[in-house]
Formats: sequence, C-alpha cells, structure tokens
Amino acid sequence: MPTSRVPLNTKSNNNDYCSDKDEQLLLLQRAVESARNGICITNPRQTDNPIIYVNDAFLNMSNFESHQVLGRNCRFLQRDDRNQPAIENIREAIKQEQSITTVLRNYKRDGTLFWNELTVSPVHDAAGNLINFVGVQNDITARREAETRVSEFYSVISHELRTPLTSINGALSVIADGSAGKVNPQVLRMVNIALENSERLIRLISDILDWKKIEAGQFKLTISDVAPEMIVDNVISAVKPLLRLGEITIKKEILTNDPVPLDIDRTIQVLINLVDNAIKFSETGSEVIVRVEPIGKDTTRFSVVDKGEGIDPSQLNKLFQVFQQLDSSDGRKKGGTGLGLSISKSLVELHGGQIGVESAVGQGSTFWFEFYSRKRR
Ligand SMILES: Cc1cc2nc3c(=O)[nH]c(=O)nc-3n(C[C@H](O)[C@H](O)[C@H](O)COP(=O)(O)O)c2cc1C
Repeated sequence: MPTSRVPLNTKSNNNDYCSDKDEQLLLLQRAVESARNGICITNPRQTDNPIIYVNDAFLNMSNFESHQVLGRNCRFLQRDDRNQPAIENIREAIKQEQSITTVLRNYKRDGTLFWNELTVSPVHDAAGNLINFVGVQNDITARREAETRVSEFYSVISHELRTPLTSINGALSVIADGSAGKVNPQVLRMVNIALENSERLIRLISDILDWKKIEAGQFKLTISDVAPEMIVDNVISAVKPLLRLGEITIKKEILTNDPVPLDIDRTIQVLINLVDNAIKFSETGSEVIVRVEPIGKDTTRFSVVDKGEGIDPSQLNKLFQVFQQLDSSDGRKKGGTGLGLSISKSLVELHGGQIGVESAVGQGSTFWFEFYSRKRR
C-alpha cells in the first residue's frame, strides 16, 4: 500500500492517482527538478552535513555548477559576514532537528550578494531517525530592494512634508495666540481652522512614520518599571486642551499602582490615543474614565470608558485594522488618521500585551490594554 496518494496527470489506468511507488518517485523527482525555488538535500550522517542533491534552480540562483556544490556544506554561499543572527539560528535549529525559515546574506559564485530566504527542515525515517535535511532557497533580493525603496520613499516624503508643515503650524500658532498682534475675530476663526488642519496633517505624518517603522520591525521599546498612575497623570494633562472647555470631564480610577514593565513614551502614546478617541465620541456633559486595575495576579489593565454612541458589534473587528474609521451615526467628522488604533495595537503587542474593546450601541465603549508584570515574562 502506498503511504500517500499523489494526483498524476499522466495516468495509465482509470484512476486519477499515482499508486505505483516508482511512478510516485518519478513524479516527486520531476516536481523537485522543475521547482523554481532552489532545493538541496544534505546528509547529516556524513562529516559536516554535505549536500547530496541540488536542483537546477539552486544552481541558477548561485551560479555554481553541480560538481562545485555536491559534497560541500551549504555554508560555501556565505562570506566573511558570518556574524548574522540567521546563521546562529540555523545552526541551533539543525542541532535541535527543527525546521527554520530565515533570511540571510549569501553570495553567488562571482561574489554578488543576494538575500536568501531559506527554509531548512529535518527529514526523518519511519522510525523517527534523522536521515537528511532539505533546504528550500528563494532569492528575494529584488523584493528587498523594492521594499527598501518604498520605505525610503515614505520617509523622504514624510520628512519633506513634516518640516514645512511644522513651520506653517508654528506661524499659525503665533497668529492665533495673539503674539503677532491683534487679529480680527473673522480672521482668527480662519487661522484656527488652518491651525487645526495643519495639526491633523502633522499627526498623520508621524503616524505614517511610526507605522512604517513598526511594519519594518525597526521599532524598539525602552522598558522600565513604571507606576501606572504616572502614565495616567501624564495623559490627563496632555489631553486637557481637548476637553472642550469643560464640556467633557475626565476622571481617573487607580485600583493598582504596582510598577509595570513598559515603555513610558509608547504607553502614553497608546493611552492618549484611546482617551483622545473617547473624548471625540463623547457627548457634551459626559465623563471619560481612565482606569488602572489588576487582572489576576500578574496583569495590569488600563481602560478608557466613555458614554458615547457605542460601536455596532459588526464593526468591532475592523477597529484595529490600518486605515479603518468607522462610520459615525451622526456623521460628525472625528478627525482621526485611521492609523491610531492599529499603531496602538502594534505597540501593545510589542510589549507582549493585549488590546481590546467592549461596546454596546447607545451605551458607550471601553477600550482597554493590558501588560504582564515581570513575574510572568
Ligand atoms: C539543508 C540545508 C540547507 C542550507 N542552505 C543554506 C543556504 O542556502 N545558505 C546558507 O548560507 N546556509 C545554508 N545552510 C546552513 C549551513 O549549512 C550551516 O548549517 C550554517 O552556516 C550554520 O552552521 P556553521 O556555523 O557550521 O556554518 C543550510 C543547511 C542545511 C542543513
């Protein structure tokens, strides 16, 4: 009985599957030979785990001939930059007989660098003994270069926009606060509109920069043990100007102040984002609560509770996705960038924490995020 049944186009009997062992082997051989990914097989029972098979795509990718490759360890694709974390990780995975996918710098026969997206997997026999490793190589140099160009483009555009915008914003603030002389109320109204919009654009640009950094995995947290109340106080004073001259009140409830390992600036950024949303969606006269509470023994939860219009359950899963803004039932423009919640989610997850929301239409929403204490890490 065959162990697996592989569909075969060139069937010789009235059955769509290849049941003959030799036919199956031939089929697998053809498939491996015609694959567009590099494929190599090594023999870990021989000294230094040499290559015993490579397909044509491997040879095309590396520009080596098969006789220059067979019998050698795959590290011949490396050069002096052997301090890449990927190499250490592969070595460890091989030792543990585990599968690994990673990206590393490799070099073709003429020394040209290429980025190799490599998967190495162990092959075991029926008794569970390690007999081979199989490697699948993919030259992703073109993709990486394109990604780098896109990311450079983003950052140039963002910086080119941010610098002039910041000076426009500064000039408008000077006019708006009267430092540049008395302005008639009609002009002041226009200046305030321009000021508000320039602030919104600046926020959008810094959100785009944050988001690109997070996407590229370049975002680093600076973790220290922090009393949550300090974060809450900081956020409350930062959002004071948004409280529409006392139309909305903000209350803090600190039910635990045990230190939590977190990045201060990024946690403030997340909490400001949640409080800012809560204020935008609150009716005049209502209250926003910022709460810190223990959850179980080793988790601290920050919540922001509003009595706004609430969110339809069908919309909840969209909330933390990039560039998603929910339709507001009263059609008011809330002035967000559509990036805030997805950035918050990434920042919380970078801490190893979780973010979520509970909401009921007409009753308001509670946005929360929670971090683990050092004990659990
Ligand atoms: C099946 C298989 C395929 C491999 N393919 C590559 C490869 O394409 N490029 C590379 O640099 N290393 C590759 N390696 C990893 C190296 O052979 C070697 O394990 C790695 O450099 C770490 O060990 P070392 O410190 O002894 O060199 C592969 C390993 C195996 C088992």
